[in-house]
Amino acid sequence: MLRSADCGSLRLDNADVEVTLAGWVGRRRDHGGIIFLDLRDRSGVVQVVFNPDPLAGSGLSLESARIAEELRQEWVVQVKGRVRRRPAGSENPAMDTGDIEVMAGSVTVLNRSLTPPFYIADDAGADESLRLRYRYLDLRRPAMQQNLILRHRVVKYIRDFLDDRGFLEIETPILIKSTPEGARDFLVPSRLHPGTFYALPQSPQQLKQLLMVSGVERYFQIARCFRDEDMRADRQPEFTQLDLEMSFVDQEDVLALTEELYTGMIESVAPHKRLRKPFPRLTHAEAMARYASDKPDLRFGLEMTDVTELAAETDFRVFLSTIEAGGRIKGFVAPGLAGYTTAQVRELDSFAREAGAGGLAHIRYRGDGAEILQSAGLRMPPEWHGRLSARMGAGAGDMILLMAGPPARVNVWLNAMRNHVAGLLNLADPDELAFAFVTDFPLFEWNEDANRWDSSHHPFTSPADGEEGLLDGCLSGGDSGGGPGAIRSKAYDLVCNGSELASGSIRIHRRELQEKVFAILGYSREDVGERFRQILEAFEYGAPPHGGIAPGIDRLVAILAGTSSIRDVIAFPKTQSGSDLLFNSPAAVAPEQLRELSIRVDS
Ligand code: AMO
Repeated sequence: MLRSADCGSLRLDNADVEVTLAGWVGRRRDHGGIIFLDLRDRSGVVQVVFNPDPLAGSGLSLESARIAEELRQEWVVQVKGRVRRRPAGSENPAMDTGDIEVMAGSVTVLNRSLTPPFYIADDAGADESLRLRYRYLDLRRPAMQQNLILRHRVVKYIRDFLDDRGFLEIETPILIKSTPEGARDFLVPSRLHPGTFYALPQSPQQLKQLLMVSGVERYFQIARCFRDEDMRADRQPEFTQLDLEMSFVDQEDVLALTEELYTGMIESVAPHKRLRKPFPRLTHAEAMARYASDKPDLRFGLEMTDVTELAAETDFRVFLSTIEAGGRIKGFVAPGLAGYTTAQVRELDSFAREAGAGGLAHIRYRGDGAEILQSAGLRMPPEWHGRLSARMGAGAGDMILLMAGPPARVNVWLNAMRNHVAGLLNLADPDELAFAFVTDFPLFEWNEDANRWDSSHHPFTSPADGEEGLLDGCLSGGDSGGGPGAIRSKAYDLVCNGSELASGSIRIHRRELQEKVFAILGYSREDVGERFRQILEAFEYGAPPHGGIAPGIDRLVAILAGTSSIRDVIAFPKTQSGSDLLFNSPAAVAPEQLRELSIRVDS
C-alpha cells in the first residue's frame, strides 16, 4: 500500500504517530515559507504542514520543501509525516480532523494535474453541464462521495434484507422485446436478423412474472430500466429499480414487506431522518379528493375542498362556464396569508398560469375576518363568505385559493399550487420522510390524446376482488354504468414527500382474465399474439397467484441525500435532454456499422 492511514480518520489519539498518506491536494496556503495544504482522500481531509525551519523539528528534507512549493490543486501526492495536536487556538471545529495536523517529513508527487475547470469543493457552485462534462472531477467533491457511499449502503441493505427473507437475486436480459410500461422503447438493431430489433426493458415486469411461473417464489433484482420519455429532475432514460416479485401473496404481504424494508433501511443508513410508523394508507380516490394528487406530500395539510355547489351560486363567469362544461371548483386554505399584498397575490396568480391554469380566485379574510378582499368578479356578500369559510375551515387572517377547470386538470394545477404555497410557508421539514401507501388505483384511465383506455399501472395488474365481472360488462356492452374507468385494481404506490417512490400490484395469473384486459386496452388478437404470447402461454401451465413492487432506487437515494435531482445520486447521469456530456453521446456511428446493421439514415 502507498499509505498507512486515511486522511479523514486521523484524530487526537493518533498524535505523535508516523503516518504515510496519499491523496489529492486541495486548498494550499503559503504563510511566509510555511506551507499548509489540505490533503483529501475518500475518507476526508487533513491539514498537512510543510515547515522547512530545522527548529520546527519536522525533519522536512530540502528536496521535499522545494516540491511543496510547486504543489498545485488536484496533484496526487504521498506524504510521510508525524501527526501532532494543532497549536492552541488554531483548531478547526468545522473539520473532523480539526484538532490535529500532519507535520510533513517528505512528499512525493505521484501525478500532476491540470488546473481543474472548477474548484473541487461542495460550495463551488459550478455549472451543472461543466460538472457533467468533467464528472470524474465532480465526483471527487465530498458531497458526491457521500452520495455514492449512501447509495452503496442502501443497495447493500436491500440485498441483505431480502436474502434473509429467502429472496433470490436473478439477472434478466437487457436485450429483450418491447414491454408496455407506458414509455417509448429504446431499440437495438440486430445484425444477424436484418430489419429486426431488440428493445431494452422498460422494466423486467414480464420476466419476473415468468420467474414466478418457474417456481422461484421470491425474486429480486437491482435492475436497470430504460425508458425513452421526457426527462425531469426525477426521471432519467436509464434508471435503477429494486424489482421484486413474490408468489402466494396478497397485497397486504407486499405492503408489509415494503414497509419493513424501508423503515429498517432508513434507521440503518439515515438515522437522522424522522418517519411516521406505520405508514398511513390512502385510497387513490381519497388522495385525489384531499390532496388533488396521487402522490401527496404529507408533511403538511393544506387539504382540498370541492366548493362547486357554492361556486354555482356566484355570478362569476369563470366558475359558471366551468361548471357548465362539467368542471369543478376546488381549492384550499393558505393559513395566515390574508396579509398578502396585491403584488404577492399577483405572483401566486402568475404561478397558477404557468402551471397551466386559467387563473386563480382568492379571498383574503383580514382583521377579525370581516374585511374581505376577494378576486374581482366574485363580489359575494358576507353571508356567502360565512358559508364558504365554514366549509373550507378558513378563519380570520387566512387566504382561500380557488381554481376552476376540468376535474383532472384542476387537480394538477392545485397540486402544483399546494406544493408552492407549502414552500412559501416553509411547511416541509427536510428531515421528515412522510411515507404513505396509496391503494385502490383505477384499473384503467382514459387517454384523451390517443382516444383509448390505458392501464393506470400496467396491463398485468389484477382488478380488485369482485370487479372482474365489470370487465365482462364493458366487453359485452351490458355495462351497468361507469365503464372501464369505474373498475378498481390491486395496484399500489409508495409515496414520500410528494414523490412516487415505488409502484406495484397483485397480478393477473389466468389467461382468460389477461385477455379481457388486453381487449379493453384495444389490442387486436394479432397484437396480443405477437407481443404477449410468452406470458399468456405461461399462464396456462400452472401460474401461481403472485404480485410485487418496484421501488425506484435513484429517487429513494435522492430523498435520503436531501437533493432534488436524481442526477446527484447517479455516478454518470444524462442531462435533461438525454445527453451524456462526458462521452458525448448519443453520437453518429461509422457508415460501415450502419451498413452491417442494414440501416440507412435519412437526412
Ligand atoms: P413503474 O413504472 O411505476 O412500475 O416504476 C416503478 C418505480 O420506478 C421509478 N421510476 C423512475 N425513476 C427514475 N427515472 C425514471 N424515468 C423512472 N420511471 C420510474 C419510480 C417508480 O415508482 N414493473 C412496474 C413495477 C411493478 O409493477 O412491480 C414498474 O416498472 O420510483
